[in-house]
Order: sequence, then C-alpha cells, then structure tokens
Amino acid sequence: MSKPLPTPHPEAIHHSQACLEAIKTKYAPATQIPFEAWMDAALYLPYWGYYTGGLPKLSGENTAQQALQGDFTTAPELSPWYGRTLAIQVQQVLDASQSLTILEFGAGSGKLALSILEQLNNPNIHYFILELSADLRERQKATLHQYTHQITWLDQLPSSFEGCIIANEVLDAMPVKLVQWNQHHQLEEVYVSWESGLPSYKNLPASTELSQIMSARMPALPHYQTEINLRGEAWVKAMGSYLKKGGVLLIDYGFPRHEYYHPQRHQGTLMCHFQHHAHDNPLIYVGLQDITAHVDFTAIADAALEGGLEVLGYTSQARFLMNCGLLNLLSQLDPQNVQHYAQQIGPVQKLLSEAEMGELFKVMLLGKELDIDPIGFMNGDRRYML
Ligand SMILES: C[S@@+](CC[C@H](N)C(=O)[O-])C[C@H]1O[C@@H](n2cnc3c(N)ncnc32)[C@H](O)[C@@H]1O
Repeated sequence: MSKPLPTPHPEAIHHSQACLEAIKTKYAPATQIPFEAWMDAALYLPYWGYYTGGLPKLSGENTAQQALQGDFTTAPELSPWYGRTLAIQVQQVLDASQSLTILEFGAGSGKLALSILEQLNNPNIHYFILELSADLRERQKATLHQYTHQITWLDQLPSSFEGCIIANEVLDAMPVKLVQWNQHHQLEEVYVSWESGLPSYKNLPASTELSQIMSARMPALPHYQTEINLRGEAWVKAMGSYLKKGGVLLIDYGFPRHEYYHPQRHQGTLMCHFQHHAHDNPLIYVGLQDITAHVDFTAIADAALEGGLEVLGYTSQARFLMNCGLLNLLSQLDPQNVQHYAQQIGPVQKLLSEAEMGELFKVMLLGKELDIDPIGFMNGDRRYML
C-alpha cells in the first residue's frame, strides 16, 4: 500500500483553493476544459501555477523554495558531476558549430548552468536561459551570480540561434493531452469538469484529427488510458526553424513508442509529485504539486525530422555519462579523503544506477548542419529502437 500524502500547510491549502478559483474564472462560462489546459493552468497560470506562482504569501514548510526543493530531485540538483560531464558533449557541439553560445530551457535552480560554465571555464561563452517562472529566474540569478556577465535571460524564443541548446526535464513538464480508448475502439479525450463542484474527469469524443494521430501510434485497446505531448512535439519541430547550426540535447525520462504505448502500460505515465510523494491524481493540490508525463522519444525524433533536424544520438543517461568520460572526470577526486569522496560518489551512483536514473532517463541529440560523431553516443546508441 502506498504511503498517505502529506497534508499541505493551511496557507498552502488556501493558495490551492484560490488557484482553482482562478482557473474557473479564466475559463468561465465553461465548466470543463481539456486535461491539457488543466495541466497548463495548474503548472503555469500566472501567479497561481506550480512553476509560475511561487506561493509568495506562504512561509514555513510550504514556501516556493520548499516546493521546488522538496517535491522532486533532478540530476543537476543531485550532483555537479552531471553538468560537468554533460559539458564534454556541449563543448564538442560548440566546436563543431564554431559557436560560443548555449541556450538552456527551463533552467531550474541554475545548477546545471553553473556546473557547465565551471567545467567549460571560458569567459567568451555566452549562456542564454529561457525560463517561464519568475521565481526560478531569481533563483538562477542567485546561483549564477559569478557568471551574470555571461548570461542573458530571454523572454521568448530567439528568431535565430547557433550553438548548443539544452533542455533537462523540460519536455516532461509540458502539458499533455489525456486520452482513452473506449470499449468500441473509439478514442475519447479526457476533460476536467467542475460542473458538480470538485474537479473530476469527464471523457468526450476525441476530434477526428486526434483519433487519427493516436491510431497511427498504438492499437485501439479498450479502456487503455495514455497521454500525447503535442506541445512538446511542436516545440521540438520549431527548433528546426530557429536553430541554424548546432545541436540540441534533450534529457528526460521516457521510452521509444513501442514501450510507451505498451499494452501493459494501460494507465499511462501521468505522475504528480508532492513533497517527494509520487501519486497519480492531478486534480488535487492544484498549484501545489508538480504534474509530469514520460516522453515518447519516437514522437520527439519524428517531430525533429519534420522540422528539418537530424537525430544524431539516443541512449540511456548512464551510457551517455560513461561515454562522455564521467569516470575520467571523477579521477580528480582523492579517494583518501574518504568523507568527501563518499559524498561525491553516492549521488553519482544514483545517476548511473539502472534502478534509479541511469536507465529510465534518456539523452537525445538533435542537430542541424552538425558534422560530428557525438562522443556521448559512441557506445550503446539506441536510435534503432525509436
Ligand atoms: C522539472 S523542471 C526541471 C528544471 C531543471 N531543468 C532541472 O533539471 O532541474 C521543468 C522546467 O521546465 C520549464 N519549462 C516547461 N516548459 C517550458 C518551455 N516551453 N520553455 C521553457 N521552460 C519550460 C518549467 O518552467 C520548469 O522550470
């Protein structure tokens, strides 16, 4: 039996109720919206959403900082060796595209940018960050204070870019459509309705277009519920227009399509995170919890190709880090300094372990006009599985 969810602080409950009211007001007079719009609002509604809200009135246990530090852990947060190793691949992309510019999407606390800038150790590198959350932008400024002269925060996509783009756990935070096949093998789109008070799910017939897209991706298995990340696909396709020369490193948890829509995964991959408790109910704790879905990397590769990008590599996080020379970097550590060594190595084991992040997380490199044998995919490239 799973552990019960922690009860939010009373002020957090108040914030969540206000967030729900703000969603209702935004969509009034409608009393139901597609799940995709619900997830978008719960995460990104200005002032109220999980990423955009910042819970400014809260104190104690449920401040914005606590919410972001305390609900889930990402690889850059876990260990600086992650970013240092990624920097090896970034450097190769920069060299091949004769560029000194990096663009990171959704840079979180700024720790990935910090590890990369430290490792590259080049004052001529310019680092752009596109961040949707005003609070996170402030946190990034604090984390990266020594490098602010090398960093520009963007408010919108660039019209043209050359260099290396990075998105660590960004695709999984994009709003997805929730769909379900009914017993007549017809596709339904899941909506969230508050017609009778509390938010609840309601299925409506899916559009012909959505039905056709889903039919092309999986068999119509009765009662099978899953997700599709059309926004993420459009976001990747658009990179093909503004990236003129360079590479895109996408790191996230997910699978190729045949695993994503596997008959046994009949409840999909939607997951919520609240204070390190993972559960599957995105209709509660609105604005207080993270909502995510795994990534269908086949769809991402197809979107990239449609946008005119090449898929240059796809592998597990563990393989990628090993290929980039993580062990070589770690040899700088002194094993005689037992305490420090153990502190550094413990999180690295999590990054690599098959049971933790090593296998579930994947790395994909997309490229435009980039003539390289990417170092991170030298061994164990799995593009054939997409
Ligand atoms: C799970 S957090 C990951 C944060 C950070 N990259 C890390 O690994 O620690 C997801 C981030 O993606 C950002 N995000 C989602 N969609 C985005 C978009 N279209 N453009 C830029 N950032 C986005 C969110 O605002 C949030 O900061």
